[in-house]
Parts: sequence; structure tokens; C-alpha cells
Amino acid sequence: MCGIVGYSGPNNSVNPIIEGLSRLEYRGYDSAGICLKINNELHILKKEGKLDNLKELLQTEKPFSNTGIGHTRWATHGAVTADNAHPHGNDIFAVVHNGIIENAGALKKDLLAEGFQFKSQTDSEVFLVLLTKFFKQTGNTLQSISKAFSSLTGNSAFVIMEKASDKLYALKRSAPLVVGENKDSREAFVSSDPFALVGFAPRIYFPQDGVICESIISTSDVTMKFYELDLTPSNRYKFQSNSMSMDTTTKGPYEHYMLKEIHEQPALIDKLAAFYIKNEGRKDLDELKGFKTEGWHLTACGTAWHAGLVIKNYFEQINRQRASVDIASEFRYKNPILNKGEIGLFISQSGETADTLACQELCKEKGIPTYSIVNVEGSTLFRNADKNFLIHAGVEIGVASTKAFTLQALTGFLMSRAMEGTLDDPKLFTEIQLLSNRIAELCSHADSIKSVAEKIYTKKGFIFTGRGRYFPIAFEGALKLKEIAYVHAEGYAAGELKHGPIALIDENIVNIAIVGPELLEKTISNVEEVKARRGIIVVVGPEKNPEVEHLADAYIPLNFEGLPNLSPLYVNVALQFLSYHIAKLKGTDIDKPRNLAKSVTVE
Ligand code: F6R
Repeated sequence: MCGIVGYSGPNNSVNPIIEGLSRLEYRGYDSAGICLKINNELHILKKEGKLDNLKELLQTEKPFSNTGIGHTRWATHGAVTADNAHPHGNDIFAVVHNGIIENAGALKKDLLAEGFQFKSQTDSEVFLVLLTKFFKQTGNTLQSISKAFSSLTGNSAFVIMEKASDKLYALKRSAPLVVGENKDSREAFVSSDPFALVGFAPRIYFPQDGVICESIISTSDVTMKFYELDLTPSNRYKFQSNSMSMDTTTKGPYEHYMLKEIHEQPALIDKLAAFYIKNEGRKDLDELKGFKTEGWHLTACGTAWHAGLVIKNYFEQINRQRASVDIASEFRYKNPILNKGEIGLFISQSGETADTLACQELCKEKGIPTYSIVNVEGSTLFRNADKNFLIHAGVEIGVASTKAFTLQALTGFLMSRAMEGTLDDPKLFTEIQLLSNRIAELCSHADSIKSVAEKIYTKKGFIFTGRGRYFPIAFEGALKLKEIAYVHAEGYAAGELKHGPIALIDENIVNIAIVGPELLEKTISNVEEVKARRGIIVVVGPEKNPEVEHLADAYIPLNFEGLPNLSPLYVNVALQFLSYHIAKLKGTDIDKPRNLAKSVTVE
């Protein structure tokens, strides 16, 4: 969603701001803008559409400015127009915003009645106008920021620059925000994502909610100051050195990040297994040995929710522990029954998904410990959790999550084996190795899946089916296809088809049927039912099984041998390839599908 990058220092702020915004492009946005302080004036340039449009403008104007803030906007309040793009500014301040001001309507009404004017339809401009109003009353920037921020409800991050100085100010409530500094070059940075600051700011700070950050550049130093909203000094921030690397941020030989990330999976699986079974991660898992809860509450969104469904199976089947899985946007409003002795387990790639974070807060309020399975170290979910299980996927740039799903599910499986006390069982390591080998084989024969895609990509609709352990994979397969190929796709439990969705079946509907070795006969019967109604059948099933193969219009043969627990992850990679190739044949924007954002920081 919205990306924020700010810079203040001796160099031209345009370069790090545009570089930082480019790195955040993958998150999804629809307009971009920058405010630069030039000759003591605030200059705002904004463009609808891609960041390239803004870059073109900057190339023509070639501005130089020591202080600036930039933004990529993912529209919430107000249409996609240059006026609604950020920064919003006047002759005192410029602001960028990520999040939603929930009481913007009421505040705007009052401000209009008081005679203030607005140039955009956004909620964000309400903050600018409030800030300006308070500044006219107090003449003090910090006080005005505090008062304006305290008037707002909803979750937001703001960065503010002013005509009167080269300082950057930033603060947030339940939204990602990081400030950084480079002491050697006397540069200050701010962003919605530490990834934007890699290579620029070796020292980064994560302020907590309601902490105002102020960067001060002098002729000899750069300093970060932190204040509470009552303007007393604050120590409510976390400092760390920025250890992220840039290696993961290029596509290498692959046409898309998504394809690259699918191919990364075998090596990442090996690395994760070594980390948790043999190396530093082992001590975290050992703490789970013999661990019993009254119940697990797994909560997540989208693909991470599907990983939760896979993990629930592990906790229930291997550990015989009760586990419920909820979609975060439902859990937070359903007045969930949360009892002492239970654990909230939150699954997220970004660690910044607003609904998932709200559920974590809810569990904390009820005194339930919160654990995370998360990719981004230092994210809000990570910082607020009592225990974290990192998935070590590296940066995932493709908006459609691939490697994160596999590693989330694998981490859940390892947690389950740790509770069971079987981490040293040699069969465990062998199964994980087999998974990574099988996925590597799939990667080297992905062209055969491409030819399946060629047969079906023009069809009207896709129903993914699976039973038992493959049921969550049917959901995940359908989600991947709809988000990147823009076709209607649904996941169903195979046995559920005849209870309604079979009415959809005709010669234009494809059934992608996952036929695992378990419940084989029953799943075959479900496929027969679709075939009898002229549906097109693509089976992802056991290799060398002529009976199943005979049923299918197209077949993706897999070797399920030796994967009693991890076969769902393997099947899922085959479906990742299938979606990828269908999307490619349809010519969609695979890495940045329309309307989607990588990190959903609004409710
Ligand atoms: C789909 C996808 C999304 C995310 C969901 C949660 O491919 O990526 O469904 O899984 O938005 O995001 P995280 O995992 O960052 O909480």
C-alpha cells in the first residue's frame, strides 16, 4: 500500500527518495508525488499513475533539494488524481500519510465551517489543515503535530516537513514507520519500510505508537529525537542496525519476481530446516517440546490464512491439539472466546497487515500470549509478539505470495514436530529434503505445466478441488490464479461440489482437481461427477496412475512418495506454476496485479 520515503542531509534528496519509492513499488500504488524544499519554499510535484511519470517530470525539472518527502499512494479516500496524490502541502507544511483517518468526514466539516479550504478529497489533507490551524494558534511545530494527531481516530503514519527548517517529523498509530540515520554522511531518513533504507541508513529506529520523531541535521552531526505526545522525551522506540541486504531485490535471469521466488523455494526450504533443526533456531523450537495449550487461535489474511489451515492440520493431526483458524477481519469483530491457557498464533509475510495486527492487540488485551510466524523481522507483528518464528524467506517482491506460503506452512510443521519432540527423527529431515528435491524437479520441468496452461487459459472459470490436507491448497491455488490472471477461480472441498457449485459446470469451466494418494477413490468419484457434466478436467495427481490420468484432459503428475506430511506444499508449487503460466498467456501484470497491494496496512 502507500509507500513513504523522506530524506534530509547534505545531498540531493531526490535520489534516495526516488530510489526508496522504486523499491516499494511492488507494494502497489496508483499515483506518486514528492515535496522538495528549494530556496526556502516547499515545491510539490505529483503525478497520477506509475512512478515513472513522476521520474519523467523530475528529469525535466532536475531539482536539487536537501530535504524532501515522497509518497506512492494507494487510493482509499478520493479518486486516483494528481490532486489527491501526496504530499499535501501549503506555505507552512507538507505531509504524507499512510493509513485511514476514520473521523476525517466530521473533522473536515468543522474545518470547512471554520473557513479552512481543501484542495483534495483525501482524508490525509485533514491532517495538514488541522496541523496548520494549530500552528497558527501556537507557532510551535511539535505542539501542533501532537494536537493534530491527537484529534484523529484510525490507524495512520505521517511524515511532515516544514518550510521553516530542514527537519523531518514522523509519527504513527498502528501503521509501519521507521526512521534512520547515517552518522558518517549526516543524513536522516524516514520510511514506511526499512527495505527502502537499505544501503542508506545503517542505523534505524522503530518508534512505538504516539511517539513523535524529529530529525535534526547540524553541520557536524545528525540526531534523532523522540517525544511523547505531551512533548516529554520518549524512549519508546526500538533501535537496530539495518541488516537487510540488497541481493534479493533483483530478478536475476527470471522474467518476473514471482517466477524467481517460486524457484527460490528449494534452497529456502533447506535453509529453514537447517536453521530450526540444526542451528540457531533450534533453541526456540526446543522451548515448545511437550508444549500443550488449551487451544490455538490461528489468525491471518489471504494466503497466510491458507497457510494457517495447513498448520491447523498439523497441530490437530500430529499433536492432537485443538486449533481454530480465522480470517483476521472476521476474528477481530466476532467477540472471540479467548480463555487463559490458549495462544494466539498470527501468520503474516509482512507483519504489517492491519487486520492481523488488530487481532494480535485483541489477544493481548485479553491476556492471551501472542506468537507469530512472520517473514519481516522488526515488523509490528514481530515486535509485539511474545514469541516469533521467523520464516527466513528473504524479501518477497511479487505481490502474489509464493515462497512465504511454503515457508509459513513449513515453520508451522516444524513447530508441531517440536511440540511432539521429534525434531531429531531422521525421517523428518529426509522428508524435508525430499520436499525440496521434488520442488527443484518441478522447477526444472515447469515447461510441462506451461503446456497444460496453454490448453485451458481461455476458459471462463476455474474450480480448484481437494480433500483433507489438500483442501487448503485448493483455496490457495484458486486465490493465486484469480489474483494474477484476473479470472474467476474458487477453491472447494472436493466432496462439497455436489452441494451447489456443480451447477456451474459446463464445457467452459475447468476443474483443477488435486487427487492425492489419500482418499484417492473418493476424490476420483468427484472428478467423474464433473466429467459427466462436460467440465474440463486438469488433475494434479500421482504419477504413473493410468486410471486417474485417463480421466483427465490434462495431467500434472507428481511423485507423492515419502511426503506423508509435506505433500500439500509440493502440490501447491505445481499450482503456483500453473497460475503463473496462465497469467503470462493472458498478458497480465504478474508481479503487480491490478488493485492489489503487497502489504495491506489499512483495514
Ligand atoms: C496473496 C497474498 C495476500 C497476503 C495477505 C496477507 O497472494 O499475498 O493474500 O497473503 O494480504 O499478507 P501478510 O502475509 O503480509 O499478512
